[in-house]
Amino acid sequence: MSTRPFISIHGAVKRFPRSQAKGPSKTSSVPEFISALAGVDLEVDAGQVVVIIGPSGSGKSTLLRSINLLEALDEGRIVVDGVEATAPGADARRIREEVGMVFQSFNLFPHLTILENVSLAPRIVRGLRPMAAESVAKPLLERVGLGDKLGAWPRELSGGQAQRAAIARALAMEPKALLFDEPTSALDPEMIREVLDVMLDLAGAGMTMVVVSHEMGFARAAADRVVFMDAGRIVELGSPNSLFDSPREARTRDFLSRVL
Ligand SMILES: Nc1ncnc2c1ncn2[C@@H]1O[C@H](COP(=O)(O)OP(=O)(O)OP(=O)(O)O)[C@@H](O)[C@H]1O
Ligand SMILES: [Mg+2]
Repeated sequence: MSTRPFISIHGAVKRFPRSQAKGPSKTSSVPEFISALAGVDLEVDAGQVVVIIGPSGSGKSTLLRSINLLEALDEGRIVVDGVEATAPGADARRIREEVGMVFQSFNLFPHLTILENVSLAPRIVRGLRPMAAESVAKPLLERVGLGDKLGAWPRELSGGQAQRAAIARALAMEPKALLFDEPTSALDPEMIREVLDVMLDLAGAGMTMVVVSHEMGFARAAADRVVFMDAGRIVELGSPNSLFDSPREARTRDFLSRVL
């Protein structure tokens, strides 16, 4: 048995032109590029849950987006399930089938019912007929607690329900891993719990997950490791208890004191 990590990231560097970046406006003294990722190494084993925290602009989304090739690295290597994502001509479609992504904004198709939204991926990507695709989608919608919303339209769902539908849609691809970018930060407080419960259920079922989230309760309950990023680097990484309760780095302590 190979013990290689499911996702392995080595020396990841991603630069953006400063003019397009958030943050201080361009002056002659600042470099032309901003290093969204300034040399990140991270390995995620199959079945692990890694939670990424860090201030705005620290590169969390860029790191997730690089894993499923929504961004191309300038330097470094990312290998997903033995396939080098960063190789020239890498099969982005195959990687995105293996590694699903859930965003802060749910991006459901407004003109399709919930069942149609979740059936779409198995129809288009796996070539299933509508009935077969629906029989993939229905149990997933039941699993996320939306078995009674199959015929509803996205506009008829609460934010929490829409995000659960988006998770079902990601699962419909039968991914081996899921990336979540702040999945609850657009939700009203009373809806956060229901989405986190679905994520906890997935974690408990052994899904490999990389989650950008500042929900500390979720991190403590689900994460094998918590990663603290700042300025495009991993500053500190550890178990939830060690990172939250006894952070080693001053920057981590400072960040936690502001968000906790
Ligand atoms: N498409 C882009 N074009 C230009 N700059 C970008 C782009 N995407 C990200 N950046 C810049 O890269 C840096 C890292 O951004 P990123 O979105 O990864 O941060 P983040 O940690 O996810 O922040 P947040 O918590 O606000 O979501 C930021 O300075 C950002 O402005
Ligand atoms: Mg982000």
